[in-house]
Amino acid sequence: MQQRVRKIFYNPVSFVGLIIVVFNIAFIVFLSLVEAFSRREHPYADLVIWLILPAIVLFGLALILIGIRRERRKEREGQAPSLASLIVDFNNPKHRRTFLALLTGFLLMSLLYAFAGYKTYEFTESVTFCGSMCHKIMGPQYRSHAFSEHAEIGCVNCHVGPGIRYFLLYKLRGTKELFDLIFDRYPRPIPSPVRDLRPSQEVCENCHGPQYRINERLQSRTYYLSDKQNTPKTIDFLLRMGNVEVKTEQPPKMHWHSSTTEEIMYVASDAKRNVIPWIRVKRLDGKVRVYRGEGSTMSDAAAVKAGTRRMDCVDCHNRQGHAYNPPDVIVNALLNLKTIDPALPEIKAVSVEALDGDYPSRESAQKGIETSIREFYKATYPDISANKGEVISAAVRALQQVYAWNYDPSMKVSWKNYPSNQGHRFSPGCFRCHDGKHRSDDGAVLSRDCSLCHLLIERTGTAPKPDQAVFRVMKYPHPVDIGDSWKTMQCHECHGAAQ
Ligand code: HEC
Ligand code: HEC
Ligand code: HEC
Ligand code: HEC
Ligand code: HEC
Ligand code: HEC
Repeated sequence: MQQRVRKIFYNPVSFVGLIIVVFNIAFIVFLSLVEAFSRREHPYADLVIWLILPAIVLFGLALILIGIRRERRKEREGQAPSLASLIVDFNNPKHRRTFLALLTGFLLMSLLYAFAGYKTYEFTESVTFCGSMCHKIMGPQYRSHAFSEHAEIGCVNCHVGPGIRYFLLYKLRGTKELFDLIFDRYPRPIPSPVRDLRPSQEVCENCHGPQYRINERLQSRTYYLSDKQNTPKTIDFLLRMGNVEVKTEQPPKMHWHSSTTEEIMYVASDAKRNVIPWIRVKRLDGKVRVYRGEGSTMSDAAAVKAGTRRMDCVDCHNRQGHAYNPPDVIVNALLNLKTIDPALPEIKAVSVEALDGDYPSRESAQKGIETSIREFYKATYPDISANKGEVISAAVRALQQVYAWNYDPSMKVSWKNYPSNQGHRFSPGCFRCHDGKHRSDDGAVLSRDCSLCHLLIERTGTAPKPDQAVFRVMKYPHPVDIGDSWKTMQCHECHGAAQ
């Protein structure tokens, strides 16, 4: 019996199968150990360890079985077994040498396999793979991500996260996207919001969980007007990041909403999620309210039918991984850093115009920015053009660089197609709900009171003592005189992308 088992087992096919099984089980053990001792989380690890490698092991097992069956058949048909004379005799020096050579080869191969395998495994997780391999179309996200707060955090941390289910979903989609890329069928701009983005509890909260407190933020922002002097205007504001003083049974989960609310569900009636007819809030004090937008009569049943979404981090922080900033914001930042010299007359206005120019490609934009700025000074301020060449060149270089981070005409990428919802100036953002027009049945209104989310503060008069200042909430928070329209209109009607 033993003899027979050995006979049918000794055949080249089963032998190859056996090697595959052994190698890959060893690799699974190796990667599991690496995972166990690694400080960084590898979102692809589960998939490789629990799906791809086991699949290869199964393939090896299948080979073993196929080999055995073939051998059985041969035996039945009376043919000679494949490796009938495989007898290893350790007293025979030739056998010993062959055995040692085979063993060394086996060990070397294992090491090579582990090394190559591990490198490939690391590479598919790297940002280079995401941005530049089959994801050429995502070049803009890649470039913008490289200078974001999350530059050190790979794409997969937000887009895939741990676990097999999402990995498969994304890889399946990735395969389709690869075909779209080859056949040039992909949509421009790439649609956003991303429908199947993972709920942020499973993504963002891995790093910014409820255990991390977020405090009130005092910010001072300096803006430059588009007049001849680039007049600076400063607004100080205290962003109210949530009520840390709230006392509840449950700890506040996150700032803003979640400090008083348990859950907000809403319905959006457009693809961009800008029009919000129905909102239901479950508060930590147990109260449930439904707010309806102006003119909306959506019933709760209709809302459920239309498909509700749970409000999460990404409803405000929708551009965290890769932001495309409006030119006003970019140029104000460059002027604040003095990378662009605020002493250059009209530089704010011409820079904004140069960045927002209508260019066919990234390359032509680089040239376009240079000519428009230089021509402007040559024509309007010949003196400055002649004497301040270096200052103008520095401005041009800075603008060319930020253009590359914030725009890509071939993919229709710019702040216009990918606005941020974190504020309310360039797009409706918070005012999608806080427009003062969403009402609940019990008469509550989602307020757009300017002090609800921040205190816009100003220093006034002379302090009683030199080291004291008196602050008050600004009466007129708008930097230039626009009458009362900042109260009645939404900011994005003037500041947003022209429709
Ligand atoms: C900090 C988290 C985070 C990181 C890191 C991140 N993204 Fe995103 N990404 C998002 C969010 C959030 C959205 C969806 C915005 C929405 O749904 O409105 C998004 C959307 C996208 C989109 C859809 C188009 C768009 O811009 O909205 C693409 C493409 C994309 N990301 C690619 C990438 C690539 C490539 C990388 C790595 C270079 C990356 N992302 C890194 C959070 C991230
Ligand atoms: C793998 C960990 C990780 C993940 C996942 C992650 N972040 Fe971050 N996030 C960071 C780190 C690290 C910083 C940088 C902190 C710093 O430099 O002060 C950061 C910065 C931020 C900031 C800016 C803080 C500031 O100083 O203005 C925001 C907002 C933010 N993350 C939101 C998000 C959101 C929303 C998501 C989910 C879409 C997310 N993050 C996912 C680690 C992460
Ligand atoms: C209602 C909108 C909204 C929601 C929802 C929201 N945030 Fe924020 N978050 C903000 C705003 C506004 C800021 C302040 C941005 C600024 O400084 O300009 C902020 C700031 C932050 C910061 C930086 C704070 C600091 O002190 O450094 C982090 C980190 C952050 N958010 C993470 C998250 C995470 C994670 C979630 C989801 C659990 C989340 N946020 C949900 C609006 C929101
Ligand atoms: C999807 C709709 C929606 C959006 C978008 C939205 N909010 Fe809210 N917000 C709500 C609801 C609902 C409440 C709770 C009202 C209640 O408690 O009855 C609320 C309450 C608040 C409160 C009061 C919390 C408290 O402690 O009383 C603040 C502050 C706030 N939101 C800030 C923001 C900011 C800042 C943004 C934009 C970055 C924003 N919201 C965007 C729906 C929204
Ligand atoms: C629902 C919350 C909310 C309400 C209501 C609100 N704001 Fe804001 N506002 C924000 C947030 C959040 C930001 C910061 C966005 C960011 O990070 O750039 C902001 C930013 C600003 C800025 C700075 C804009 C910039 O581009 O730097 C000004 C000015 C401002 N708000 C004025 C107002 C005025 C005036 C009102 C009243 C009509 C108002 N806000 C009502 C949430 C709110
Ligand atoms: C009726 C049109 C209009 C409305 C509505 C409006 N603004 Fe403005 N805003 C302007 C004009 C015009 C300027 C001056 C632009 C310049 O000089 O470059 C300006 C300038 C600003 C600036 C400084 C410009 C810079 O360099 O970044 C900020 C900040 C600002 N507005 C915020 C807001 C906020 C916040 C709201 C909503 C509460 C708002 N505006 C509503 C027309 C408007």
